[in-house]
Amino acid sequence: MTLGDLSAGLGGPADLRALAGVRDAADVLLVGGATVRDESYPPYPGGPERRAARAAKGLAPAPPVAMVTRTGALPAGHPLVADPARPPLVITAAADADRVRAALAVHPAGPVADLVVAGDATVAWPAVLTALAARGLTRVSCEGGPRLAGELLAAGLVDEVFTTIAPALVGGDGPRLTVGAPSGRHELALVSALVHGDELLLRYVRATASR
Ligand SMILES: NC(=O)c1ccc[n+]([C@@H]2O[C@H](COP(=O)([O-])OP(=O)(O)OC[C@H]3O[C@@H](n4cnc5c(N)ncnc54)[C@H](OP(=O)(O)O)[C@@H]3O)[C@@H](O)[C@H]2O)c1
Repeated sequence: MTLGDLSAGLGGPADLRALAGVRDAADVLLVGGATVRDESYPPYPGGPERRAARAAKGLAPAPPVAMVTRTGALPAGHPLVADPARPPLVITAAADADRVRAALAVHPAGPVADLVVAGDATVAWPAVLTALAARGLTRVSCEGGPRLAGELLAAGLVDEVFTTIAPALVGGDGPRLTVGAPSGRHELALVSALVHGDELLLRYVRATASR
């Protein structure tokens, strides 16, 4: 869902705190190329306190952002590739790797990404997870958008869903939470429902067959 083509403005302060909490528990933030471009996606935004809290839990001070892409398209000066000291991961398939490398090479900052090539004609999600795990990144938090989330749903890789009900009705033709997965129900079980002001913060896990 978006408001004026952006997610900003949909959720309130509690939603933003919940998002920060999910980010702070993750090893890597997985984001689709369109969201990276549309939202001018930055690297992990946590300041010194959040980084220190992560380190105290044995996590890297900042989780890398991993952009999934077939094109590697990023405008020059995009925040995700603006700091060579904090390169993002970029995930693509072997068939698209040369194009992605060429697209990323035009950035004046030089080599701006750690390229993860997983799968031949198209990205193979088990290979992505294996490649991330080889970098010590096992807690993968997908921040969207809907088409990337749809791929993960279709691949059976959605274990947990965090969503917020905000006190507003929004017009427009926004997509569902996931787009592109075959039609069908994927059962979830509610783990927690927190009320903060007028916002409702929901956490679900994938329901097991025995439930
Ligand atoms: N409300 C919210 O919380 C929220 C959260 C996130 C996003 N959004 C909104 O969602 C919109 C974008 O969502 P979207 O569904 O159109 O796009 P998306 O899922 O963000 O990105 C789709 C793109 O991801 C890459 N991609 C996806 N699957 C791939 C695969 N198997 N192999 C290689 N690359 C793959 C491709 O990138 P390339 O085009 O680079 O090749 C593809 O065009 C934005 O407007 C954003 O603001 C809202």
